[in-house]
Amino acid sequence: MPRILTGITPSGTLHIGNYFGAMRPAIELQAGGDAFYFIADYHSMTALTDAAERRAYTQGIALDWLACGLDPAKAVFWRQSDVPVVCELTWLLGSLTPMGLLERAHSYKDKTAKGIAPNFGLFAYPVLMAADILLYDTNVVPVGRDQKQHVEMTRDIAIKFNQTYGETLVVPDVQIRDEVAVVPGLDGQKMSKSYGNSIEIFGEEKVIRKKIMGIVMDSRTPQEPKPDADKNLAILLMRLVAPQDVALDYENRLRAGGLGYGDLKKALFEQCWNYFAPYRARRAELMANPDYVEHVLRDGAARAQAVAAKTMDRALKACGLR
Ligand code: ADP
Ligand code: TRP
Repeated sequence: MPRILTGITPSGTLHIGNYFGAMRPAIELQAGGDAFYFIADYHSMTALTDAAERRAYTQGIALDWLACGLDPAKAVFWRQSDVPVVCELTWLLGSLTPMGLLERAHSYKDKTAKGIAPNFGLFAYPVLMAADILLYDTNVVPVGRDQKQHVEMTRDIAIKFNQTYGETLVVPDVQIRDEVAVVPGLDGQKMSKSYGNSIEIFGEEKVIRKKIMGIVMDSRTPQEPKPDADKNLAILLMRLVAPQDVALDYENRLRAGGLGYGDLKKALFEQCWNYFAPYRARRAELMANPDYVEHVLRDGAARAQAVAAKTMDRALKACGLR
């Protein structure tokens, strides 16, 4: 059974793009039986420097994933920093990683192009990510398109390690979720926490309603037929959160003319709010039970640590450090 592993950086509040693009597919994969999912809190070091904020996002993401259906009986779920040996592997891998490989990383180039002052952590980020993946003998890494290059770098690093020190590390494959289209944000661009265009999964009712009602549409009258109804932003979002026949009905009514944008947005809000209602209830239960959440993460860390210790031992021996 292939081992699947993926990480989620706690650098903000999760939105429905994260849900449909990353969480739901990962939660579906856990049924397969060998899933490893972790909260990449070490990775958040390069994104934020407020300790309280980091703690709050980490806790929030743990609640979000458990509320949305991550089952700790099926998937190993832990906080990255609870298995610190990953930093030790990062050093072994970093000592074999060519500067040129890291200099070609898109995410590093994009961030520096945006004016973010680069530090060593940002530059070395792909090496830590390689350690995350290689430490757990991962076969398959499901990620969004933006992370594909990082997994390819992981492969290069693993191959280099094996060539240098002998067969030690499992070379992973990347799995790009092509079937999951990019979820558009309120302005029609890709939904992203950094574009201020997102619908939070667990946002407040009033806020979400206001955001959805604020979606800007064109100035055609309600009566006018809209042959481009299938490209309407509210319809695209409706397809994600409403039953298929309901979304299709709204699309047909919009195409035929007679459905106003205000009514369409109101319906979108209702569908969206209802879609996440059971998860909201579960999240409230979990929030009232922080000991349980902590127990899940610690138990996950112990299971992750058991795998990590074996790989690390192999890697250290291969390099002549034990
Ligand atoms: P953001 O762009 O909000 O910072 P991240 O880069 O943290 O999101 O993404 C976390 C995960 O969610 C990744 O696997 C990414 O591919 C997925 N994801 C983020 N935004 C979207 C979106 N709009 N549509 C589909 N998947 C998304
Ligand atoms: N870098 C990933 C992101 O920003 C998160 C991540 C960290 C990850 N380590 C990983 C994903 C290992 C997959 C495998 O989305």
